[in-house]
Amino acid sequence: MNKKAEIEALIQRLPKLELHLHIEGTLEPEQLFAFARRNQVALAYPDVDSLRAAYDFNNLQSFLDLYYQGTAVLQTAQDFFDLTLAYLERVAAQNVVHTEIFFDPQSHTARGIAFGTVIDGITRALAEGETRLGVSSRLIMCFLRHLDEKDAFATLAQAEPYLDRIAAVGLDSSEVGHPPCKFERVFAAAREHGLLAVAHAGEEGPPEYIWEALDRLKVSRIDHGVRCVEDAKLVARLAEEGVPLTVCPLSNVRLKVFPDMRHHTLPRILEAGIKATVNSDDPAYFGGYMNENFEAVQQAFGFDPETWLTLSLNAVEASFLEPEAKARITSAMRQAVAG
Ligand code: ADE
Ligand code: ZN
Repeated sequence: MNKKAEIEALIQRLPKLELHLHIEGTLEPEQLFAFARRNQVALAYPDVDSLRAAYDFNNLQSFLDLYYQGTAVLQTAQDFFDLTLAYLERVAAQNVVHTEIFFDPQSHTARGIAFGTVIDGITRALAEGETRLGVSSRLIMCFLRHLDEKDAFATLAQAEPYLDRIAAVGLDSSEVGHPPCKFERVFAAAREHGLLAVAHAGEEGPPEYIWEALDRLKVSRIDHGVRCVEDAKLVARLAEEGVPLTVCPLSNVRLKVFPDMRHHTLPRILEAGIKATVNSDDPAYFGGYMNENFEAVQQAFGFDPETWLTLSLNAVEASFLEPEAKARITSAMRQAVAG
């Protein structure tokens, strides 16, 4: 095998962990039309091809507008189950062994769908993913940052009966103009309930948002964080404290955070000693799941197997898994790289 084919084979056989995945972002156009038919929801696009043609984004907001529109087809617990199981089946085929999944309850409760309907469907699929597909998981409840603190507190209250199914809270949606400090009190309340915290920061927003996520929301990791390179002090802190970044390469290119993959800051982030990981974000919208993200990075940067091992071990360390599972996956990764 030549070197290129060898790395491609390594990418496929590496056990992978996904730490940045919005379950609503796994809604494939075909599935979206099937749910719309099932639930008699009228769509703004006549067919799958015209919908897919609209996936040409200028920035985060142009994507979010379509993404929230798409959620309208999700109505029953069965829909959330089918969506989640389809994602798990796709990534199990890519050798993903563990996934930490975001969901956006407010995009459903605002449409009159009960919180319990959403979480029942998702968690039933996660249980089947673990037993039948061997994919373990954690669930992360995101607050929509374009909404206010009061709405986030109401969502946390709705989550209370289900806290045993939720590992952490997160923060997503339109970043610029909605700094992490807006949610300082609700994150404190969530942490008091025993939940961990993560937050999207430094995707489109400035490095200051990453500082705030760390200092005011007390997050365990930063989602995206790719703009950290604009602030040398922040880079030093992230490296020193071992704060993981869940980087989503195809997402960043599709949302024009970078003009193309060669301009991505991932190599600089790794060189600075920051614990970066590679993830898919909203794979149905951005052109790929885990393997496609790994392959796009490989094509741009030609990483060696050691770098892939580093990225993989970073994901294990950054995950919310117990130490025994971390040890088991670590040794499987080392074995995969050894060939
Ligand atoms: N919601 C879904 N995907 C997102 C992203 N990449 N950034 C912010 N919010 C999101
Ligand atoms: Zn995201």
